[in-house]
Amino acid sequence: MEFSALILAAGKGTRLKSKLAKPLHEVAGKALISWVCEAATTAGASQHICVISHDGEAVAKLVSTTAETVIQDPPLGTGDAVKCCLNQLQELPPDRPVIILYADTPLIRPATLREMASKLITGADVCLLGFRADDPTGYGRIILSDTGTVEAIIEHKDATDNQKEIILVNGGAMAAKAGVLVHLLPKIEAKNSQNELYLTDLVGLAFAAGLQTDVLTTDEAELAGVNDRAQLAQLEAVMQDRLRAQAMASGVTLHAPETVFLSADTRFGTDVTIEPHVIIGQGVSIADNCQIKAFSHLEGATLAEGCIVGPYARLRPGTKLGPKVKIGNFVETKNAVLADGAKANHLSYLGDAMIGEKANIGAGTITCNYDGFIKSTTIIGDQAFIGSNSALVAPVEIGKGALVGAGSVITKNVADDAIGISRATQKQIDDGAKAHRKKADQKKTGV
Ligand code: UD1
Ligand code: CA
Repeated sequence: MEFSALILAAGKGTRLKSKLAKPLHEVAGKALISWVCEAATTAGASQHICVISHDGEAVAKLVSTTAETVIQDPPLGTGDAVKCCLNQLQELPPDRPVIILYADTPLIRPATLREMASKLITGADVCLLGFRADDPTGYGRIILSDTGTVEAIIEHKDATDNQKEIILVNGGAMAAKAGVLVHLLPKIEAKNSQNELYLTDLVGLAFAAGLQTDVLTTDEAELAGVNDRAQLAQLEAVMQDRLRAQAMASGVTLHAPETVFLSADTRFGTDVTIEPHVIIGQGVSIADNCQIKAFSHLEGATLAEGCIVGPYARLRPGTKLGPKVKIGNFVETKNAVLADGAKANHLSYLGDAMIGEKANIGAGTITCNYDGFIKSTTIIGDQAFIGSNSALVAPVEIGKGALVGAGSVITKNVADDAIGISRATQKQIDDGAKAHRKKADQKKTGV
């Protein structure tokens, strides 16, 4: 079944009150437009056309691998947006299903899109996607004919009080035969409260022309749209629930799923355990048997099998942990590669660092990677032992099996199996404390 997908992403998104274009706002770390494009790709669309605004370069860049872009300038409504694609539509066979999607409806499922396309193949000329809304405010109301076909869609702002009572609403996606679009789009007029060309008026025109107008209904969660920040937050919640369910279904234990936040691209092996209050940002992959303890924050990190991270760890982009690496509390890593079995158990910053197998990084170790101008690398050899509270001033290399004395500031390389130590020599003043107390006491009492 061949069908084309047309994604509308040129609207101003005024209700978000944002300088960022609406299609670029993210749900679970992925842009709204990318969710919709991916749904169309997974559903098997053979052609993608994305309608963007005159300043939509960033959107165009994001969809460039899958979609052709068409500019709508100025944006005069959803009907006008589809009209901007008339040239492309005219080139299609008249009975080719075209699915029109809105870039602000990211939860739509590929299976639903396929079902819409097949409705056109089995007789419908236009097929809407609708749902019964708990609160229909803002959505177009679907008016059914006596025979159950769709007579019209009335936008919220144009609806009478009676029509506003209707809870069957337009979910935003519409499938129509290319020939029907080519024929009816020029007939849409801007006779409404917003002076816009509404795509939704095409349904009324199709019904009046005696064409078959159908509606496929699905659940509200799938069709929720993002017009404002509150809806963006609601969608985030729905998507997080989906991602948590998928993670658990694939063999991940979440002790308190509602407190764990994932990204669309998070990858898990099996038997991973995630404790409460963990945030996983974009670009994280966690292999089998890893344990992520409470209150940890991970982004751009790859973990090989059997790592233990946290509690209260922060893994930043460019972190690569080999098998069985341990990262403990209040340890921050950035652009840091730790080989098999390396450990940094407490209170460290490891940035721009290469750390060898089974190296032990003591509490409070800091790799001083930035001098205010450039970033430099610290290399720590296999089985090296870095004593607590050491500052390793990069660029610097600690050899294999080398030892760094606690409290050192290391500015020069330390050879394999050598000890590097830099601290003031310790003195002892016998009875010094006693003398000090006596003096202080005399000062206080005056005796
Ligand atoms: C639209 C529907 C409404 C439906 C709701 C579902 C119309 C007229 N109304 O309303 O029936 O219930 O979606 O969520 O279609 N866009 C353009 N160019 C434009 C205007 C919009 O590309 O000139 C794009 C937007 O970027 C957005 C999509 O079309 O992705 C929908 O536009 P929006 O203004 O959000 O429509 P709604 O008012 O939500
Ligand atoms: Ca919308």
